[in-house]
Amino acid sequence: MNFLVTGGAGFIGSAVCRHLCANPAYRVTNLDKLTYAGNLASLRPVENAHNYRFAHADICDERAVLDILRRDDIDIVMNLAAESHVDRSIDGPGAFIETNIVGTYRILNAALEYWRGLPEDSKSRFRFHHVSTDEVFGDLPFDGGMFVEETPYAPSSPYSASKAASDHLVRAWHETYGLPVVLSNCSNNYGPYHFPEKLIPLVILNALDEKTLPVYGAGANVRDWLFVEDHARALELVATRGRPGESYNVGGNSERTNLSVVETICDLLDTRRPRAGGKSYRDLISFVTDRPGHDRRYAIDASKIGRDLGWAPSENFDSGLARTVDWFLDNKWWWGPIREQRYAGERLGEARKEGV
Ligand code: NAD
Ligand code: DAU
Repeated sequence: MNFLVTGGAGFIGSAVCRHLCANPAYRVTNLDKLTYAGNLASLRPVENAHNYRFAHADICDERAVLDILRRDDIDIVMNLAAESHVDRSIDGPGAFIETNIVGTYRILNAALEYWRGLPEDSKSRFRFHHVSTDEVFGDLPFDGGMFVEETPYAPSSPYSASKAASDHLVRAWHETYGLPVVLSNCSNNYGPYHFPEKLIPLVILNALDEKTLPVYGAGANVRDWLFVEDHARALELVATRGRPGESYNVGGNSERTNLSVVETICDLLDTRRPRAGGKSYRDLISFVTDRPGHDRRYAIDASKIGRDLGWAPSENFDSGLARTVDWFLDNKWWWGPIREQRYAGERLGEARKEGV
């Protein structure tokens, strides 16, 4: 089985490549533009594997994608390439429109042309798996409700709106042209190789640098956290066994307020790397202006993927967060250059609605 993983140099895509390459029956091509978020160092564990190869390309380049699909005789496309950070989408929505919407349109065109030219047996095996987010469903109240696959889309941020648009395009290419697509919508991932613009790695690295730990608003917003390797397993199942035309919600069943996430990280670091002077890292917590359009709560009902594909997360939030903190403590070779050369942890996405 030959996979094309787009965005494979990113956080989740690299976990997917590492996971798939462990199966000698798979061949994996990682197609990535290498934006600020792309990092080939995340592929170090597989870079010399016989079944892994890297292609430096942009999903907006339809010709390049088509050539790679044909060259590598691809059976399954897993489309993870995207601009992924909500705060950056507030500061500069253009790149999100370009990659997440136009790029998805281009890669769908390339996939359709490729699929139409396949012999019948390859044609029936082919899948286009689009990896999406729970953020397309929008804002849940604090006191109840969960996203199911049928929940209407109501995105709040330029990021989630661009992902929602891309999901609609993928479904349209199935309904109109018959392209065999599957979709998955996942909650917040965390784990090793997480780019330190996102809450969990940002807080770990700011704490180690004795910088403040920025909590938006009162820290009451709730996210459902999923360990990235559990997500990679779910994605393999959706791509290989999901029913064409269907979508699958993926979640960790681990709802936490942001403040409790940050406090738990502080407590883990207090034990593992105590501060000089004996104070707790909790003293570095700083409540800052809220994110504009900040969704209060996300919660995923993942019963469909459990029932239909037999998936369940293996890591709970406490064990997964401890593994994550330990990984960052042990792997400065990976994050040190990012903090020095790409992103040092400054506040992003503070623009107010009227000032954008
Ligand atoms: P990421 O920002 O870490 O990685 C994105 C990758 O895509 C990078 O390697 C980047 O170089 C590449 N890329 C960007 N534009 C490209 C283009 N035009 N052509 C080719 N490559 C390009 O993102 P992530 O957190 O790993 O998310 C991966 C996917 O999963 C995204 O589609 C995202 O919307 C979705 N998702 C993420 C989460 C999460 O918690 N991180 C949760 C649910 C869904
Ligand atoms: O739900 C899935 C989504 O999860 C993915 O689609 C996105 O690609 C991914 O980035 C993530 O989006 P969030 O906006 O939820 O993740 P982030 O880590 O940016 O923020 C998590 C929560 O923490 C959110 O409520 C905002 C808050 N936050 C974030 C940062 C960066 C803070 O309080 N302080 C911060 O400094």
